[in-house]
Amino acid sequence: MKIKVINGPNLNMLGIREPGIYGSESYGALCAMIKAHCDEIGIEVELQQSNHEGDLVDFIQQAYGMCDGIVINPGAYTHTSIAILDAAKAVGLPMIEVHISDVSKREDFRQISYIRAACEETITGQGLQGYIEAIDHLAEKYGC
Ligand code: DQA
Repeated sequence: MKIKVINGPNLNMLGIREPGIYGSESYGALCAMIKAHCDEIGIEVELQQSNHEGDLVDFIQQAYGMCDGIVINPGAYTHTSIAILDAAKAVGLPMIEVHISDVSKREDFRQISYIRAACEETITGQGLQGYIEAIDHLAEKYGC
């Protein structure tokens, strides 16, 4: 079983960007934590990050026929991108939305999530642990 974990813009800056909101762990540390967890529960994982909207669309499309589920943190594109939502709907894979911060307690412009309409669950405000929760949700529900 294989999943993809897709991260959007500025998530490569984890550990540097606004540590009071996003914590002090780097993107590399996040990837290592996810890989270790997936190894432990016996699932294959591909990690992808881009600062470009079209790349995120491509990553989602490339999962079609290749992956059993997707964990996605689209970063700021969460709040703006219909193209990413359409890609998610097009592939129809089980998808979980993750946000490191609790977006529900932040600015008004973060209260809209386009991707949410294609996701069966949203995990916010759990820090990096939210990715692990999302992976476990896919693993439990779909055996992936
Ligand atoms: C984020 C929240 C978004 O509003 C923000 O633009 C991000 C990160 C989060 O993980 O908390 O880049 O998705």
